[in-house]
Amino acid sequence: MKRVVVVGLGYVGIPVACGFANAGFEAVGIDVIQSKIDMINKGESPVKGKEPGLDELLKKVHRAGRLKATDDYSVCKGAYAILIMVETPVDKDNLPRYKALKSAVSSVGENLTKGTIVVIESTIAPRTTTDIVQPILEKNSGLKAGEDFYLAHCPERVAVGVLLKNLKELDRIIGGINEESAKKAKELYKKIVKGKLYLTDSLTAEVVKTAENTYRDTQIAFANELAYLCEELGIDAFEVQKLVNTSPGRQMLLPGAGVGGHCVPKDPWLLLHGSGETFKPKIIPTSREINDSMPHHMIDLAEEALTQSKVKSKGAKIAVMGYAFIEDSDDVRNTPALPIIEHFAKSGAEVIVHDPYVKGAEGIELTGNLNDALVGADCAIFVTGHSRYKSLKLKNLVQKMRTPIIIDGRNLFDRKKCIKEGFVYKGIGKRH
Ligand SMILES: NC(=O)c1ccc[n+]([C@@H]2O[C@H](COP(=O)([O-])OP(=O)(O)OC[C@H]3O[C@@H](n4cnc5c(N)ncnc54)[C@H](O)[C@@H]3O)[C@@H](O)[C@H]2O)c1
Repeated sequence: MKRVVVVGLGYVGIPVACGFANAGFEAVGIDVIQSKIDMINKGESPVKGKEPGLDELLKKVHRAGRLKATDDYSVCKGAYAILIMVETPVDKDNLPRYKALKSAVSSVGENLTKGTIVVIESTIAPRTTTDIVQPILEKNSGLKAGEDFYLAHCPERVAVGVLLKNLKELDRIIGGINEESAKKAKELYKKIVKGKLYLTDSLTAEVVKTAENTYRDTQIAFANELAYLCEELGIDAFEVQKLVNTSPGRQMLLPGAGVGGHCVPKDPWLLLHGSGETFKPKIIPTSREINDSMPHHMIDLAEEALTQSKVKSKGAKIAVMGYAFIEDSDDVRNTPALPIIEHFAKSGAEVIVHDPYVKGAEGIELTGNLNDALVGADCAIFVTGHSRYKSLKLKNLVQKMRTPIIIDGRNLFDRKKCIKEGFVYKGIGKRH
């Protein structure tokens, strides 16, 4: 059985490893976190939240003995393919922080043997494959990329909540450092991807991936900017969005409490890291600024509502509804909830965070019980659009709360109905 090694068992690595195991390969996952390794070796997925099919698939391939996890890089020796998908964040100056990537690539290089296909699936700044990854692999292995082993960048397109579906169905871009590498990588991905596989060079693939998420960020920024405008004009931005989209070719996105997750907030910076001295980007950094302002706008709306209701934030009970960055997930990376929690904690409020999926966060009072959060609360700030929140009954909610204030960051409630029930209601893109 051919061995496929997956380095980095996160939101991307786990479904990919399961996919190759299910396609008949011996899949071996490498990670540096022992608890993840132990869970996988027991047939349990470390990814929580709604991920259709993932728990079952992991159990199935584990039972069949085709998926194992380890921290030992010697499994790379003699492997058919090694796929690297560790985290690639940016630092506080928005520069790529490649600590995990360089460490993983170094260890792979030390254990690389002839004929293996090495693929970087992590999202990376333009030229990273040829200028950072390739030299480390060649130095540590003593082998020549493109001749002794193959090297390609095949950026991942999975998304939290639809990991397996996207992995199977979406088209993929494969950028080789040479044609042979791209062709070899295509053979590999054909085994798990039903979508089309487009071959190109590694630099183009790096730009395509970072541009995909940057494009999304700018589209969201447009929706958010329009939400600010609609609030000023006293109209509903969600109605505007719906009606704009009745015009052919318009696909306006929705405004919201902020953009989170591992990817969209940092990929624009990775993309710009490839730009030279003379080029001065405008839309991309401005979009980042607008999207980063949204949690602060939520804070302003909440403070206004508290003042209106004659409640001081010091001593108030603030219920932050949702800690995950996206609905029905446990992924809290770059969550817009955090600046809101920090603001009210600093103001001396009692902050309690509710999330149905997130099971603990350092230094934060987190509950999965709605009553713990809402009973006696002075303000409920809805940051995440979890499905559970959509079915909340306003009549019950108004009775539970000490001061009935709703701050709606995800268009969860009807403004008029909230006001009718006695709430002070404010929301992103809503008339106040
Ligand atoms: N999450 C997504 O939906 C998504 C989608 C497309 C692309 N991506 C990209 O894929 C990459 C991975 O994202 P993710 O969400 O899976 O991240 P993650 O943080 O969930 O997973 C990364 C894993 O790599 C492990 N790791 C770190 N250093 C290691 C090392 N030296 N050796 C072995 N393992 C190591 C970590 O412990 C972690 O388990 C990132 O570049 C991201 O931008 C993510």
